[in-house]
Amino acid sequence: MNNRITEAELGECYKALDRIRALTEGLGLRYYIETYGCQMNEHDSELLAGMLIQAGYAKAETKADADLILFNTCCVREHAEKRTFGNVGFIKELKQQNPRLLLGVCGCMMQQKEVAKRLYARFPFVDLVFGTHELKNFPSMLEELLMERDRIFRVSESDGEVIEGLPIERTPGFSTFVNIMYGCNNFCTYCIVPYVRGRERSRKPEDIISEVRSVVQSGYCEVTLLGQNVNSYNYGGVTFPQLLRLVHDAVPELPRIRFMTSHPKDLSDELIAAMAELGRVCKHIHLPVQSGSDRILKAMNRRYTSSDYLKLVEKLRSSVRNVEITTDIIVGFPGETEEDFEATCELVRRVGYSNAYTFAYSPREGTIAAAMEDQIPEAVKKERLNKLNAILLETIPRNNEKYIGFTGDILVEGVDHRGEPLLFGKLSNFKMVYVQGDEGLIGKTVRVKVDGFRFNSLFGHIVKEEEE
Ligand code: 5AD
Ligand code: SF4
Repeated sequence: MNNRITEAELGECYKALDRIRALTEGLGLRYYIETYGCQMNEHDSELLAGMLIQAGYAKAETKADADLILFNTCCVREHAEKRTFGNVGFIKELKQQNPRLLLGVCGCMMQQKEVAKRLYARFPFVDLVFGTHELKNFPSMLEELLMERDRIFRVSESDGEVIEGLPIERTPGFSTFVNIMYGCNNFCTYCIVPYVRGRERSRKPEDIISEVRSVVQSGYCEVTLLGQNVNSYNYGGVTFPQLLRLVHDAVPELPRIRFMTSHPKDLSDELIAAMAELGRVCKHIHLPVQSGSDRILKAMNRRYTSSDYLKLVEKLRSSVRNVEITTDIIVGFPGETEEDFEATCELVRRVGYSNAYTFAYSPREGTIAAAMEDQIPEAVKKERLNKLNAILLETIPRNNEKYIGFTGDILVEGVDHRGEPLLFGKLSNFKMVYVQGDEGLIGKTVRVKVDGFRFNSLFGHIVKEEEE
């Protein structure tokens, strides 16, 4: 079915990690990983950290304390790329201070072979460059580096595979991510992801469930099921709404289940029904619209119209009580006219998002849109981005008015010390609420009543029993 890492390959990984442990015993080696971009990269970094700990490394608090620095890079938008080149450059000095320091660069940007070659040539002090399909080879590459100290460049073409069974070191906290699938088949014309993350491949439901169980046992209260387009999850006929039910029923002690990201073209009635029905599935959906203009949506290869999108929003709102919707929007896609841009603004006003991530279109080498004529001047993109953000600044708070007097449950995440100390936590629909209360409530579900709001946050108080 899926191209999956074999038991033998997994065994080789663990053997190499054991050999590194033996080789470096007593040296007190430490690693530092800097991660850019999305949760997929965060996940890969957690696997890299897991392997390093298995190999005997400890986590360093700063780059200056580390014997191995890894930059896990992103290439979705241009500024991420510029930052990486800048930050890699800074390590030269650290290498002069600590001659045993190793430097590796990996992740999506390194999967773009030409960019990776450029970086490798420009910074001769980079010891290791590897692409997104090389995770399972990381132990053997590290061993080779430690033994021979020769530089390694490893970027291979692959549709990608599903990796199970590698050690993982999760970022501690209250909420965590569990991948349900990897890669993307959609080829939105602006997007580099399908080129650097390979084809869609879904994990086995049993593997997902056992990972969810294990993170709950480690104390996480919230799990986000993660994929570039979770709605096209399919493992042997098990669809995403079915998976959601399976996870929900198999792990009843998990208070909250989230999922991300949903492509509007694949959002099914079954999923909406599952969201409405399953009590511990959060009433929030991240539904990137990208544009409100049908002409631009077509050029983006999104395969829905603005009216399809609005119908989905309506269906969600009429079926899932208190649902909140967030989105991603790109302005300045090639050929976007003032009229197209106005259609995006109009859609934003109509939907009433609870939050939105807005981006100026950034041409990515190798994508279809990068080769399109009529690229929009940077100044125009910036102006449109500012205009759109101003509209959101107005519409997001307006969406909060309905919460005055609202009573609901938040899962307390922590204490905000910016002003008067306040507990903060989210409603099931992702709205953040601040209340006065005792620190001992962190990790607990408490009932709150909303009294006011500021931009996209709500303020309230803990409901006493007699108030109910
Ligand atoms: N330019 C600008 N924004 C982009 N995104 C993806 N590719 C690009 C690009 N080339 C945005 C989309 C996506 C989010 C993760 O990043 O809005 O949903
Ligand atoms: Fe990129 Fe589109 Fe795939 Fe999302 S669905 S990762 S925007 S190609």
